[in-house]
Amino acid sequence: MSRSAHPAGPRHGDVLPEGHYAAPPEDLNALDPKVWARTVVRGEAAEGGALQVGGLDVRALAEEYGTPAFILDEADFRARCRAWREAFASERPGSEGADVYYAGKAFLCRAVVRWLHEEGLSLDVCSGGELAVALAAGMPPERIAFHGNNKTRHELEQAVKAGVGHVVVDSYEEIARLAWAAQQFGVRQRVLIRVTVGVEAHTHEFIATAHEDQKFGLSLTGGQAAEAVRRVLNLDSLELAGIHSHIGSQIFDTAGFEVAARRVVGLLAEIRDEHGVELPEIDLGGGLGIAYTSEDDPREPAEIARSLADIVRRECVAADLTPPRLSVEPGRAIVGPTAFTLYEVGTVKPLEGLRTYVSVDGGMSDNIRTALYDADYSVALASRRSAAEPMLSRVVGKHCESGDIVVRDAFLPADTAPGDLLAVPATGAYCRSMASNYNHALRPPVVAVLDGTSRVLVRRETEEDLLRLDVGH
Ligand code: LLP
Repeated sequence: MSRSAHPAGPRHGDVLPEGHYAAPPEDLNALDPKVWARTVVRGEAAEGGALQVGGLDVRALAEEYGTPAFILDEADFRARCRAWREAFASERPGSEGADVYYAGKAFLCRAVVRWLHEEGLSLDVCSGGELAVALAAGMPPERIAFHGNNKTRHELEQAVKAGVGHVVVDSYEEIARLAWAAQQFGVRQRVLIRVTVGVEAHTHEFIATAHEDQKFGLSLTGGQAAEAVRRVLNLDSLELAGIHSHIGSQIFDTAGFEVAARRVVGLLAEIRDEHGVELPEIDLGGGLGIAYTSEDDPREPAEIARSLADIVRRECVAADLTPPRLSVEPGRAIVGPTAFTLYEVGTVKPLEGLRTYVSVDGGMSDNIRTALYDADYSVALASRRSAAEPMLSRVVGKHCESGDIVVRDAFLPADTAPGDLLAVPATGAYCRSMASNYNHALRPPVVAVLDGTSRVLVRRETEEDLLRLDVGH
């Protein structure tokens, strides 16, 4: 295996091409705990200095499971579940308590459902498929909330029949369809109404689902939310439990949530005034940001819980309302930091005066977020320690597109070479769950590690899996 440097690539101190990295990190072997799962460490230099997770060497994991692979730190996942649950349990705005719903769209499989159940979390699903996985793994249906802006009749029936705790309704049509489905099954379905609170997108660039001009929710200012409340209250087969708001994703600042909480509590007061009922629940959605690079500064669950509970409490006191039960739905903030993607380097191509393209054995089929959202990621040489100088790099995949970029701007050691393993941290959320078979790529496995042991949660796809869907004539 060649360990030669690539002299054509820019070096520390050169004028860099476009990209936001002003300078390489001081120590390329160091691991910023903000972006790595909790049990990840770099091994002793004498043993090669490879990364370890859950007490296991990534070289052994690559050997056993192949690459690319998502490696998930179970202890970290469980610790984050507990941190969220405890934060909200101790910061509930009223005597009614508070719930944490994990947003399954970030990543869901049966083992994860069982962990959530064991750690006392509830689950938000947004499709019949996610519901099926949740039920198959034994999640109590009353702890499931069903979301979506266009749930099919079949999905609504599936949800009602299963006995899900809440259906979060998103349109007038759905209210009618759900009422009918509930009537067929002879049940009174609890619902939340998803409202658009009108938080302007410019308050934060990532707050993108609470402004008016998009498909989700029923508008507060336009009166559709109030009309939805009237309709639900008039239907015997539906029980209006409360109001739901989700303002967007990868948000670091709680100001948007505070505005949302204020407006949702305002609606509760209007409902009390118009209908004489105090709704017992509000759900402020998910969207809490995580660190993808050292530049990101996420807040702790306890701090988030405190500020949300405070604002709800304060607004309720002002409106003379009993504080409702508060729910949140973090997806990324729980699973995102708990996994990294392990890749093997296949080619290293220095481009004079630009950067070095390091190709790995995955790409946009296992991480579409860089191409789709211009997301930033970090990367580390995982199979060994290196004393080589930093080399401005772009980590790219093996797909037939020049936009197939995994990490747009990164410094890797200049001796990075084919056969090396790279690890891209913070890929637990929206990577495996948004993975595709583009170019008939085989979607990577998800391997859990815990206390020196590893096991496959979701196996690697095979060519047989691909051919099984192709009827062949
Ligand atoms: N609740 C609702 C109603 C949601 O729509 C979402 C995310 C969540 C909770 C969880 O949000 P989180 O805490 O994970 O940010 N594919 C995009 C993210 C789309 C999120 C859609 N809804 C990404 O990769 O960034």
